[in-house]
Formats: sequence, C-alpha cells, structure tokens
Amino acid sequence: MATQYYTASSLDGFIATPDHSLDWLFPLGDVNETSYPGFVRAVGALAMGASTYEWMLRHVVEPGTPESAAWPYRQPTWVFTHRALPPVAGADIRFVEGDVRPVHRAMRAAAGDANVWLVGGGDLVGQFHDAGLLDELIVQVASVTLGEGRPLLPRRITSPPLRLTSVQAFGSGFAELRYAVPKTA
Ligand SMILES: NC(=O)c1ccc[n+]([C@@H]2O[C@H](COP(=O)([O-])OP(=O)(O)OC[C@H]3O[C@@H](n4cnc5c(N)ncnc54)[C@H](OP(=O)(O)O)[C@@H]3O)[C@@H](O)[C@H]2O)c1
Repeated sequence: MATQYYTASSLDGFIATPDHSLDWLFPLGDVNETSYPGFVRAVGALAMGASTYEWMLRHVVEPGTPESAAWPYRQPTWVFTHRALPPVAGADIRFVEGDVRPVHRAMRAAAGDANVWLVGGGDLVGQFHDAGLLDELIVQVASVTLGEGRPLLPRRITSPPLRLTSVQAFGSGFAELRYAVPKTA
C-alpha cells in the first residue's frame, strides 16, 4: 500500500528529451525482463501529467490510426491537466487539476490494498512529495546520458536524504535503484 514513483531515467537525470522523445529508452532492453511486470501487477491506481498522457496517446493508443490500440492499464488513471484532453474509449481515465491531496485520497480509496503508481512527470511527482505523499522511488537508471530533457524529480531532497533500499542490474542497460522516502515530522 505504497505510493511509488516508478520510472526509467537517463544517467544524468532525465526521463524524456526536451521534445518528449523516449526513443533512447527502448533499445536498452525488454521491459518484460525488468521488474515492470511484477510491479504493475501490484498497482491499483495511476496518476500522470498531461505530457505523459499525450505521449501515451501519440505512441500507444494512437486513436484514429490503423495502429490504434486499447489503453494499456486496467486500473483507474488520474490525469492532471488544465486543458480538455481527449479521453480514451473504454478506459477509466479521470481528468483532474490542482491540489494533489484530494486526488491522492481518491486514488488510495480506489487502490485498496494495492499500490499507487505515480507515472510522472517529475514535477507532478514533486507535488506529491511536497504534500508528504510519496513513499518510494524506483528508478531504472539507463546507460545513456541526454544532456538535457524533462527532469526526473526537480526537487531538493537532502535532509533527511532518501534511503537506498535496493540495487539491481538488468542486463547492461539498466541499474534499478529503489529508495524509501523518509517521512519528516
Ligand atoms: N522515462 C520514463 O519511464 C518516463 C516515465 C514517465 C513519463 N515519461 C515522459 O516524460 C515526459 C514528462 O513530461 P513533463 O515533464 O512535461 O511532465 P508531465 O507531468 O507528464 O506533464 C506536465 C503537465 O501536466 C500538467 N500538470 C502537472 N501538474 C498539474 C496540476 N497539479 N494540475 C493540473 N495540471 C497539471 C500541466 O499541463 P497543462 O497545464 O498543459 O495541462 C503540466 O505542464 C513525457 O514526455 C513522458 O512521456 C517518461
């Protein structure tokens, strides 16, 4: 029953290029040979920001194209946006904005005994952290640098620092780092 930020990141701390490309990520390994299948089975609710949702629309769902596919998550998904983004037919997607705290309460209620997955981006996860709602970071550190891009977690977390709980290699493409987020008083 944890609220987890699970993501891949470049070695220099970016989860996408400045123009939201993930082309650097997929050649590095097969997601089914990482912790992802087990991780996602234990997820009961997801949250993501508008850019991440738009990436999913462009690259996974592709509505109106011959490659069109279903939304990949059976769990309810909360999408943070100030805009009227298109929904995906047949998917449980809830568009929200503003304070993450009431949304987190609704996510927790929907997830039951399962975990809450903060998909990204980094600032949205930072908003959950600011509210004391982030429990764990699980980062697949990819064996590439990007130089610039969309940040992993644009916050200063130094005191107390994160607590490293596990390190695992997946081939030569990824080092997975898990951190617990200490609760401040
Ligand atoms: N490497 C990986 O495994 C991985 C994982 C996740 C995501 N990604 C990629 O990383 C990139 C992340 O993009 P990003 O940094 O722009 O972050 P993002 O969180 O996906 O999108 C940011 C946008 O979400 C909306 N938003 C955020 N907080 C909000 C709030 N409290 N209320 C209302 N709207 C809010 C705003 O959009 P509006 O105001 O325009 O609505 C904001 O500009 C994407 O390209 C995604 O595909 C990569």
